[in-house]
Amino acid sequence: MIELHPTQPSKERITDDIQQLAAFVDSSKPGWTRRPFTSWYEQGREWLKQQMQNLGMDVRYDAASNLIGTLPGSDNSLKPILIGSHTDTVTGGGRFDGIIGVVAGLELVRVLQKVGIQLRHPLEVVDFTAEEPSEFGISTIGSRGMVNNLSEEMLLRQDPNGLVLKEAIHRAGGQPERLSQFARKSGDVALYLELHIEQGPVLEQSDKKLGVVTGIVGIHRYRVTVEGISNHAGTTPMTMRWDALTGASELILELESIARATYSEPVVGTIGKLYVEPNASNVIPGRVVFELEIRSLNVEILEQMVVVYREKANRIAEERGVHISFDSLSKSEPIRVDTEVQQVIHEACSVTASTIRLPSGAGHDGNQLSRIAPIGMIFVPSRDGRSHCPEEWTDYEDVTLGVHALIQSVLVFDQKLNS
Ligand code: GLV
Ligand code: MN
Ligand code: MN
Repeated sequence: MIELHPTQPSKERITDDIQQLAAFVDSSKPGWTRRPFTSWYEQGREWLKQQMQNLGMDVRYDAASNLIGTLPGSDNSLKPILIGSHTDTVTGGGRFDGIIGVVAGLELVRVLQKVGIQLRHPLEVVDFTAEEPSEFGISTIGSRGMVNNLSEEMLLRQDPNGLVLKEAIHRAGGQPERLSQFARKSGDVALYLELHIEQGPVLEQSDKKLGVVTGIVGIHRYRVTVEGISNHAGTTPMTMRWDALTGASELILELESIARATYSEPVVGTIGKLYVEPNASNVIPGRVVFELEIRSLNVEILEQMVVVYREKANRIAEERGVHISFDSLSKSEPIRVDTEVQQVIHEACSVTASTIRLPSGAGHDGNQLSRIAPIGMIFVPSRDGRSHCPEEWTDYEDVTLGVHALIQSVLVFDQKLNS
């Protein structure tokens, strides 16, 4: 049984931090929108940097433009424990996804200072750059960069305005040309821990307050282009059309049907982004581009789904006389959380509130960090299982319970880990 430290986080301070960050949003967009590499994102990070500095932390941007506040440990030979998440949001997102993990880092530091505990390990509170899918078609940009998993091809990708990712990272305070030089390698980080909202219904439906994450899904994303022939919508007989949108529609429904088939582990497939050209009511669509993603805890299933899907695409292309091509946008592989790490977190959570173990259907920076360090995650409930929408909500009491469990976990790991 772990020893409970008198380390009560403050619901008021946590609420205040979340509400302050919620002010830095693009009000022309729905919900709480703070897209990466925008002025609202920069303003939010400036606020965060100020909070870290007020706590006496040493604050810097690393080569991948992650914002990092460091608190020295008492034993300089030990590697840092990292606590973090992200402050970017999807368009029309909420106030909690990512944000609570960063706010938890601030509150951890305040509590340690208040009770006068210095950790043995250095502590780094990290706001990872661009965790959500960015305009460059890549997610978890900062954590990929931190572990040297941002390829040159990715760094040279352009957003719809022609901005190159390298330049975006540079403007955000990073040094993209020195990513490999400063990359963290296996053994450079003692542990990565993240508090996050569940973003699904499991905790709420099981009437539990805390979740110990057992694994995180892998996500494979593709851009699919369907090319037909645009023509006059009134004069072209139905038998003389090569309509890119009807072809794409068939393909879109195929993904749903493949994802609904029965597999040994759950899978999901989504097409959430679609462009139609020329997008005019009286013109037969000549070109459709959509972005699809599939997720599972089992990488073989993901790969098998893509093979089947591409076969279906070939059949549709042949039958309809359209051309269909696939570009891989990104792959993050599924990970399992080490059972010993889960056990420590489970004990820390259980002394705080009712706890279950569950996998994460959302992707996280932990997928990348797991390449170099053990990782662990704690979930708190999402009301009605909603997330990536303005209705996303977690009671502040529950966020505070999560922060408490995170603090307890850090204290135990700090004693337990000897590297
Ligand atoms: C991140 O929020 C993701 O799961 O897409
Ligand atoms: Mn998200
Ligand atoms: Mn998130």
